[in-house]
Amino acid sequence: MSRIYEALQKAESERKQDPAPTFEAVEQPPAHAAVAEFEPEAQYEHPQFSVSTEDMPRASVGGLTFEGIAKHSWKPSLDKLPAMMDRGPSVEQFRSLRSRLNEARDIRPIKSVLISSGMPQEGKSFVASNLAVSLARHKGNKVLLVDGDMRRYTIHEMLGTSPSPGLADYLSGKAAIEEILQRSDEPADQGLNRSPLAGLAFIPGGNGGDRAADLSGSPRFGELLRALAPIFDWIIIDSSPVLPVSDAVNLARSCDGVLLVARGNVTRYPVAQRAAGELRGSNVLGFVLNAVHEAPQVGNYYGYNQGYAGRE
Ligand SMILES: Nc1ncnc2c1ncn2[C@@H]1O[C@H](COP(=O)(O)OP(=O)(O)OP(=O)(O)O)[C@@H](O)[C@H]1O
Ligand SMILES: [Mg+2]
Repeated sequence: MSRIYEALQKAESERKQDPAPTFEAVEQPPAHAAVAEFEPEAQYEHPQFSVSTEDMPRASVGGLTFEGIAKHSWKPSLDKLPAMMDRGPSVEQFRSLRSRLNEARDIRPIKSVLISSGMPQEGKSFVASNLAVSLARHKGNKVLLVDGDMRRYTIHEMLGTSPSPGLADYLSGKAAIEEILQRSDEPADQGLNRSPLAGLAFIPGGNGGDRAADLSGSPRFGELLRALAPIFDWIIIDSSPVLPVSDAVNLARSCDGVLLVARGNVTRYPVAQRAAGELRGSNVLGFVLNAVHEAPQVGNYYGYNQGYAGRE
């Protein structure tokens, strides 16, 4: 993580020297850059959680296959899902993030990856959904995208589908796995092309509301991932920011890895540092630097006179 940290730290010190610029979380044209840097040797622990679920139905997906998942009519928003396009900078950046994840997987088995960040609006849902689409477009992968932000669930809006029943309903014992899973009803073959959503399945957030913190600590989440792992190549889980609420830290305990998002010109270095600290009990794979127009140049870190994120 050190290079992304250094980049954030440098931006932070530039900000202190020049108080004039204000940084806004504006919508940028879909030149959405996502740069990942991994620290595959990070310490890995799985602390146990104990919440009684004796009365709840057990997770069971006996005989469930990807093809058996219920089809829903999705109306995806291309603005929010640039990874669905055939080409473009976002397609390239998410492809590169996908390659980095595959490399991390060569070092140790990774299937479930939680996406989080320190604060709201840094681009967690954007990165989670576009990464899932990018992974699903590759080599016939089967990918599950889970909206693990049970307070401010938004991924159903990006896919243009219903928000419930979802994860919160399953974790509270009100819905079975089969009821919360959905996939697109769009035909997989579209002329010469395969639909970019053909390999994607989705679990919406459901409405966790005030119970989200308790629900995220339920062992049913780990059971869900274990039950579904055999039918997916990747499971990508969006989550809430780690500094204001504990939900993501709870969910991360059941995941194989965590990717943290930092937003270019917005995320401050201490925020990124504290976010990584909150997740020290999990396998933090690295940072995704989101919404920068140009990736930091390697030369920046070796004293060459180039600016960070496209500034000369
Ligand atoms: N790289 C990007 N380029 C342009 N717009 C982006 C980019 N990343 C995120 N956005 C936009 O910024 C806003 C916040 O992004 P997003 O919802 O992904 O953040 P979040 O971290 O999930 O927020 P929350 O903490 O509220 O769940 C959205 O309108 C999203 O479309
Ligand atoms: Mg979000």
